[in-house]
Amino acid sequence: MKIISCIEELRAHLQGQLRTAFVPTMGNLHEGHLSLMRLARKHGDPVVASIFVNRLQFGPNEDFDKYPRTFQADVEKLEKEGVYILFAPTEKDLYPEPQEYRVQPPDDLGNILEGEFRPGFFTGVTTVVLKLFSCVQPRVAVFGKKDYQQLMIVRNMAKQFALPTEIIAAETWRAEDGLALSSRNGYLSEAERAEAPALFRQLNIVADEVRNGHLDVFELERKAMADLAARGWKPDYISIRKQSNLQPPSAGDMAQGEKLVVVAAAKLGKTRLIDNLEI
Ligand code: PAF
Repeated sequence: MKIISCIEELRAHLQGQLRTAFVPTMGNLHEGHLSLMRLARKHGDPVVASIFVNRLQFGPNEDFDKYPRTFQADVEKLEKEGVYILFAPTEKDLYPEPQEYRVQPPDDLGNILEGEFRPGFFTGVTTVVLKLFSCVQPRVAVFGKKDYQQLMIVRNMAKQFALPTEIIAAETWRAEDGLALSSRNGYLSEAERAEAPALFRQLNIVADEVRNGHLDVFELERKAMADLAARGWKPDYISIRKQSNLQPPSAGDMAQGEKLVVVAAAKLGKTRLIDNLEI
């Protein structure tokens, strides 16, 4: 595997490649990331991964400095997956001057749910993703459903800018007890790790209620948040949304069997976890 930090060198190596499959990451790779690499391999060749902890998507009170950086271990994992190039730019490589041009998702998608609790987050994500796409010029790029809203925003960006990159969605990788794998799980204490699967259990309870014909979305959300809070969590949201645009479903949508997803974010101790479940 070649490890490249310089954009020109990356372009030289990928010149003439028409089927590049790309997986952007911020490193601290776990089995979930590796499943994205395997899916990428099914959709293209060569596979290019990136590791870049993107300052633009961290708020002032978020964990940019604390974000786990495990470069050597990541390299070993990617080598085993047969990744051809690891693009690992420094901040100077990717942002040689202040990044004044940014991609701003529409308010009704970028400023709801995660965007409401993490102002500016999606502008940071779309800006770096567009820039990474411009460096790698992939034919396909793989994003995990774990970050459901991010996946939708990136997909819509690719469509609206007519990017020649198809966005592929990968299923969420879960531990045996249901906890979605995430770099942030590493922050959990032993007791918190034991409690953490309660978030996914709560999503399943909500999804089952909806499948059984319970149509009062507000009541389901309220109860799910109260149940988590009673276990010591601080939920930001548990919300039933339409898969098509992440807007709340109307009574008519519910009655007509609109495809739904329940999305959630909640703090357990100091660690903020997100998860979702399609209904
Ligand atoms: O999902 C992530 O790890 C990041 O948001 C991404 C897509 C690599 C952009 O920095």
